[in-house]
Amino acid sequence: MRQLKLAVLISGSGTNLQALIDACANPDYPAKISLVISNKENASGLGRAKEVGIQTLVIRHTDFNKRDEFDKSLTDALESAKVELICLAGFMRILGPVFVNHWHDRLVNIHPSLLPAFKGLHTHKRALEAGVRIAGCTVHYVRTEVDVGPIVAQAAVPIMPDDTEHRLAERVLQQEHQLYPFAVELIARGQARVDGARVQITGTEPSGIAALISPQVTKAE
Ligand code: GRF
Repeated sequence: MRQLKLAVLISGSGTNLQALIDACANPDYPAKISLVISNKENASGLGRAKEVGIQTLVIRHTDFNKRDEFDKSLTDALESAKVELICLAGFMRILGPVFVNHWHDRLVNIHPSLLPAFKGLHTHKRALEAGVRIAGCTVHYVRTEVDVGPIVAQAAVPIMPDDTEHRLAERVLQQEHQLYPFAVELIARGQARVDGARVQITGTEPSGIAALISPQVTKAE
């Protein structure tokens, strides 16, 4: 079976990276992680990759004077590894237009809100303040505007009356760990095709997508 070559870019704990590592451990999964890059040498997620023998690389943004030079260094490393799809997973650097356009439709991100609502940071705090009833997470193709791009998959998470930012973040993160491997699988199987501003999903049972739209409500302790 052909396996799409992934790179995962991280800056922190890498729990989404772990979810992708776990998915790729299944021999039937149509993708494998060739490279993990962090812009921070102390990102604990690096250890998750090393533990299972995945190549890791630290490219510190602080070593470069210009964003474009940092981005170019990322592209060089990704091309050397013959990466076919880049998954941003808590990568806390904004990538410039040259990089984003170079990897057009080969670059995805996971964001902890139901885009286009709550782009940017502190999504859970803002969702609670706004009084919305449904939070969630989104996997989308990356475009030059931050947190904008064709949506591959989303999972909804109901907001509880007694939710705190922390509790909500935990429940959304649980869904992220289901959603990211699901979305990457759709892409790897050629079932998620970009069509203008949208992604057309083909060949998947609607129930598969619906399961993510209405996940079981689990209250954090
Ligand atoms: C996740 O909430 C993701 O949606 C956001 O950054 C966080 C990364 O968490 N982009 P982790 O490093 O995968 O644990």
